[in-house]
Amino acid sequence: MKLNTKLLTSTALVSAMLIFPVANAKTFKMALGDAEGSAQYELGSKFSEVFAEKTGGEHKIAMFPNGQLGSEQDTVNEAAIGTLDFSLLAINNITPFSPKTGLLTLPYMIQSLDDAVKLTRGEVGKELTESTIQDAGIRIVGWSYTGFRVLTNSKKPVTKLEDLQGLVIRVPKNEIMLATYKAWGINATPMAWSETFTALQQGVVDGQDNPYLTISSMKFNEVQKYVTNIRYLFSLEPLVVSESVFQDLDEDVQKAILEAGEAATLHSEQFLKDTEDRIKKELVEKGMEISDPEGGEAEWIEKATSEVWPAYYESVGGKERVDAVLKLLGR
Ligand code: MLT
Repeated sequence: MKLNTKLLTSTALVSAMLIFPVANAKTFKMALGDAEGSAQYELGSKFSEVFAEKTGGEHKIAMFPNGQLGSEQDTVNEAAIGTLDFSLLAINNITPFSPKTGLLTLPYMIQSLDDAVKLTRGEVGKELTESTIQDAGIRIVGWSYTGFRVLTNSKKPVTKLEDLQGLVIRVPKNEIMLATYKAWGINATPMAWSETFTALQQGVVDGQDNPYLTISSMKFNEVQKYVTNIRYLFSLEPLVVSESVFQDLDEDVQKAILEAGEAATLHSEQFLKDTEDRIKKELVEKGMEISDPEGGEAEWIEKATSEVWPAYYESVGGKERVDAVLKLLGR
C-alpha cells in the first residue's frame, strides 16, 4: 500500500507507518559541509527529491547541513566504514584519501565550467569514481559545480603576489593547495572547513578561498571584506555514498541513486549559471570589495604550475595521464 506522505504530519506519518509498515523503508543520512542555500544544499535537495520520486516515496534522505555530522574529511571516514550513508563535500577534502582526485585540484587544471563538465561527466570522471571506491570506500554519484575559488581576507586588497605577504590564509588540509600558496610565497594554514568561520571571526586567520556561492551561503561577508578574483581552482563538490551501504541495497535502489545523482548534477550546473553573477553583486552590496589580479593572473599561473604540478604528477597518476587530460581539454 502506497502512502500519500505529503498529506500526513510527521506524527501521523509515524503512526501510519506502524500500521502499514513499508518493507525495508529507509531514511538515509546525508552530511553536508555547507549551510542551507549553498550549491551543496541545492544538489542535495534535488537529489533527495528525485530519489524519493524514483523509489515511489519509499526511501528518503535526511540532510544535515553545516558540518553537523563532523568535518568534511571526517565524513569520508564515516562513510567508508558505513556509519554514514551520504556526504556532500569539496573534492579537495577527498584527495587526502584518494590521491588520484588530486588531478582536479592541480592549480589551473580546470579553466572553465566546460572543462569541469568534461572531466566529471566523461571517462575521467568514471575512472576517478572507480579509484575513489578502491582507495576510500566511497562512490561518487553526483557533482556540484560551485564555481572558481576566489581569495578573501579581512585586512587589505590583494592584487599582486607580494600582497599575500603577512596574511594568514586558511586552506583545507590538502597538500596540493598548501603547495600552491607556498609557490606564491606564503605558508598557508591547513584547517578543517568546520572550524573556518570561527577562525576568521576570531582573527586566528585573516583569509581563505572558496567560491562566491559558498562565501554567500556561509555568510563569510560578515567576517571578510576583500575578494581577489583568482581562478586557480574550480570547486567541484561530489555527492558520495558509502560503498558498503550501496552494495547492501537492492539493484533498483542503486539505480535510483545513480539516476537521482545524474539529475542533481545537471541541476547543479544550471544553478551555478543562474545564480553566480547575482550572488557576486549581492556580496558587493553587502560591503565586499572585489579586485582582479593586477596585470592578469599570468605570474600566479606560472608559479603554481611550474612549482606544484611536477611534485604531484606521480600521485595523480603520472605525467602521461596529466598530458592526456590536457589533450582532452584541448590544451
Ligand atoms: C573547504 O574549503 O574545505 C571546502 O571547499 C568547503 C566547502 O565544502 O564548501
